[in-house]
Amino acid sequence: MSDDLARDVQDQLDAVENLLMSSVQSDDPLLATASKHLVEAGGKRFRPMLVLLASQFGDPTAPGIVPAAVVVELTHLATLYHDDVMDEATVRRGSPSANSRWTNTVAILTGDYLFARASDLLADLGPEAVRIQARAFARLVRGQIQETVGPLEDTDPLKHYLQVVADKTASLIAVSGQFGALLAGAPPHVVDTITSASEKIGVAFQLSDDILDIASDTEQSGKTPGTDLREGIRTLPMHHVLAGIGSGKDDARLRDLLDQDLTDDTLHTEALTLLRAHPAMDRARADLRRWAEDARAEILTLPDIPTRAAYTGLCDYVVSRTG
Ligand code: IPE
Ligand code: IPE
Ligand code: MG
Ligand code: MG
Repeated sequence: MSDDLARDVQDQLDAVENLLMSSVQSDDPLLATASKHLVEAGGKRFRPMLVLLASQFGDPTAPGIVPAAVVVELTHLATLYHDDVMDEATVRRGSPSANSRWTNTVAILTGDYLFARASDLLADLGPEAVRIQARAFARLVRGQIQETVGPLEDTDPLKHYLQVVADKTASLIAVSGQFGALLAGAPPHVVDTITSASEKIGVAFQLSDDILDIASDTEQSGKTPGTDLREGIRTLPMHHVLAGIGSGKDDARLRDLLDQDLTDDTLHTEALTLLRAHPAMDRARADLRRWAEDARAEILTLPDIPTRAAYTGLCDYVVSRTG
């Protein structure tokens, strides 16, 4: 990132942090503590960063930019509180998840509270922004429920998986880019290109999350490895195993394990170990690179201003990230 751009973005990120912190306050002590819990635990602030970088294609000082960045982070945060209940996850952002520190009830209500706080800020951004966020949120929920249900008998499981990934994760990441460009007054074709490229970045982001769920440890990811396996959620490397990629001697055993209940610690460890060493992991990484390259090609059709290189940098980031 150029020095000038880095300085502008850092100033705006500071403003995002301040508004985020003030948005999660409450006069109820438990709601206040539980809401602040994950904000303070950190997180990459990837979605606010997208809003800010996209806004550079118009007027980045437009009044809606910082609130929009907070809206997408609050929405994301709310989904994390709920996701950890659904996935029975005990660690998030390197801290105990809200459901494990308190209870599922507290985690669900805190997520709801954060959605409400996001809506409050969103109201000031106008009806078009409200509708954009509402539709993305509907897609997100659809993705989460379709992941829970799994593919129907006559559906291609890989196709189902990619649809889930696009809906549950790329939807909000696409909106992040869209909000930045739209609220900064960028020309409509620029807004469309950024939205479409950000959707691809979003798919790549979730593919890398799913690879990291298998390959990385808690220190790097801030989460518990093998959560998808334990929950019986089939992600890209598992689809590749089941489709017959690789032909090692452990193949049949791993396929057999993927059909079993992996809440048992011994079986879970065995499956995770076999999966980590399986060629399906490299195939998944190649898929991830392809999604990032498609996003990059689209971004390169945009005007060549400093933020364009920062935006293509995000394509490298989603491929190489470790946490
Ligand atoms: C985690 O998102 C949930 C996904 C959609 C993959 P992030 O990886 O952006 O989580 P934080 O915000 O950095 O904690
Ligand atoms: C997260 O999916 C998607 C949303 C929160 C909408 P995951 O369940 O794969 O994300 P992590 O790995 O728990 O962050
Ligand atoms: Mg999860
Ligand atoms: Mg989940």
